[in-house]
Amino acid sequence: MLDNYNRNIHYLRISVTDRCNLRCKYCMPEDGVKLINHCDILSFEEIFEFTKIAVKYGINKVRITGGEPLVRKNIVELIRMLSQIKELQDLSLTTNGILLKEFAKPLADTGLKRVNISLDTLDENKFKQITRGGDITKVFEGIEAAKNAGLEPIKINCVIEKSHNEPDAIKVKEYCDNNGLIIRFIHRMNLKTGEFSVVEGGTGGNCNICNKLRLSSDGYLRPCLFNDIKFNVRELGAEKAIQTAIENKPKCGTHSYNNSFNIIGG
Ligand code: 5AD
Ligand code: SF4
Repeated sequence: MLDNYNRNIHYLRISVTDRCNLRCKYCMPEDGVKLINHCDILSFEEIFEFTKIAVKYGINKVRITGGEPLVRKNIVELIRMLSQIKELQDLSLTTNGILLKEFAKPLADTGLKRVNISLDTLDENKFKQITRGGDITKVFEGIEAAKNAGLEPIKINCVIEKSHNEPDAIKVKEYCDNNGLIIRFIHRMNLKTGEFSVVEGGTGGNCNICNKLRLSSDGYLRPCLFNDIKFNVRELGAEKAIQTAIENKPKCGTHSYNNSFNIIGG
């Protein structure tokens, strides 16, 4: 469906949990965040019903995000359900890779097409520092498993401080080039101050061509990451929520005081 600025909104990002098995410094405070109550989290059935209606409004691409989507119980079952929706041309998932070794094959077998994996450095200790304790070996194993399962093309999300020429970014790029992975450099963002810029190697952050809606795990539909407006899917119903979110999609992002990456999934 076209929005007021003639953008074709056809991409839905679904955050299935606000929880994560890491605590990346740019995403979560050390002692965690106030978590959404379990009873407020959308069930798989609710996500499935919402998505079936969303495809009627032109959504043909879905990405599963978090928090970390692979910590959501029975996530493979959700992929199985969503992959039954024929109108979806693309079904992908963004993960930190920690649990991917175990999940890559079952996810691919049930219909997931591809994955994006976060990796900001190749250095074991630096990775531990950025993620507050993560084991980079697991990510490498996860990437290997994703390849073997055919979850391709695999994209690597590399968060950079200032430029793609900083030492960690250069090394991650080399690793990607040598292993058939596509790198995307994402400038570190600040939602509250509205610091955002385009994703290098991707389409994110470019308001003119933004084609996304975001569904959070507690059932709010947000038309813009850098804006606080959101619509309650349970209260409004899927149809009204989708129509209203598209009608109210801002021309350009500004800032958001209430959104956070672990809730919106980037
Ligand atoms: N700035 C940019 N990207 C971020 N992500 C999380 N927090 C931020 C931030 N402050 C990214 C992660 C991951 C994706 C889910 O969101 O690096 O790749
Ligand atoms: Fe978890 Fe991703 Fe946030 Fe890191 S950036 S804490 S992996 S949700």
